[in-house]
Amino acid sequence: MKLLVTGGAGFIGSNFVRLCLKEHADRVVVNLDKLTYAGNPENLKDVEKDPRYRFVRGDICDPDLALELMRDGIDAVVHFAAESHVDRSIHDPAVFLDTNILGTHNLLKCAREASVSRFLQVSTDEVYGSLGPAGVFVEESPLRPNSPYAASKAGADLICRSFFETFSFPVVVTRCGNNYGPYQFPEKLIPLFVTNLLDDIPVPLYGDGLNVRDWIHVEDHCRAIDAVLRKGRPGEVYNIGGRAEKNNLQITEILFKELGKPETLKKFVKDRLGHDRRYAIDPGKLERELGWSPRFTFEQGIKETIAWYKDNEHWWRPLKERVLKTY
Ligand code: NAD
Ligand code: DAU
Repeated sequence: MKLLVTGGAGFIGSNFVRLCLKEHADRVVVNLDKLTYAGNPENLKDVEKDPRYRFVRGDICDPDLALELMRDGIDAVVHFAAESHVDRSIHDPAVFLDTNILGTHNLLKCAREASVSRFLQVSTDEVYGSLGPAGVFVEESPLRPNSPYAASKAGADLICRSFFETFSFPVVVTRCGNNYGPYQFPEKLIPLFVTNLLDDIPVPLYGDGLNVRDWIHVEDHCRAIDAVLRKGRPGEVYNIGGRAEKNNLQITEILFKELGKPETLKKFVKDRLGHDRRYAIDPGKLERELGWSPRFTFEQGIKETIAWYKDNEHWWRPLKERVLKTY
């Protein structure tokens, strides 16, 4: 199977490419990535010489490039490429609309033209908006995105839906909760806090720190995507989650304990605008239909993740410089 993976130089995409090459001897992977501030060829240094892997630097919004790549025998597209950080979307939404909505449309159009037989849109639980203290997101939950990032992903999901309904084009959509694990860019909560604490820099908790996210190890997310790629029904949406709800204060306490740092490094700061209060995913459909279940508990996954950041300073130190320069 020859895959076009978009955004494969980012956090989740690079973990997915590695998993494909390691566990599926029959797979060839073409990775199309623009290398924005979040893209990093270092994430796939260990596989760059693999004859089944090819990297193409380019923009998903480029119609000629996308069509040329898809016409070169691509069986399936796994679409990760996106602007992914909520705070940046609040600061400047425009690029989110270009990449996440128009870029997705361009890929769908080219994939259809090239008769690609499967298109997997990697989406997010944020399209469902925010929950109160009870309830969970199911695939039928209404789309109520609150940030420009979430709205751009919801827009992309709806264009995917329209390609299935209108053209019978075989699209499948996954919606996952918050990922953590190796190679996550250190602007997101867990890698930002871990790398700050390793340097005894205070960690900025937004608002009262009680916003809840539903956490999943990136490898479990990638295995779920792989299951949907192989067995998911066209036109369907599959929620992906690790059933691991934690508020930001709980995450912070765990990191302080694991790293042995003093409470004085905890700083409450101004809240994020439009900050969603709670996300919680019901992954029941994925478990029942495709037999997927997570391999990591949060407790085990976070220990391994902290260890990875401790062992890979050479990877994250230059990126922290980059965060400051691009904001
Ligand atoms: P990331 O920001 O780490 O990586 C995004 C990648 O896309 C980068 O390599 C970047 O260079 C590339 N890219 C951006 N614009 C591009 C363009 N115009 N053309 C080609 N490449 C481009 O993101 P991530 O956290 O790995 O997320 C990947 C996908 O998964 C996104 O679609 C995101 O919405 C979704 N998702 C993320 C999470 C999460 O917790 N991180 C959860 C659910 C869903
Ligand atoms: O739910 C899936 C989504 O998870 C993905 O679609 C997004 O691409 C991904 O970025 C992530 O979005 P969040 O906004 O939930 O992740 P982030 O790591 O930015 O923030 C997690 C929580 O931590 C959120 O409640 C805001 C809070 N936070 C974040 C940062 C960066 C802080 O309190 N302080 C911080 O410095």
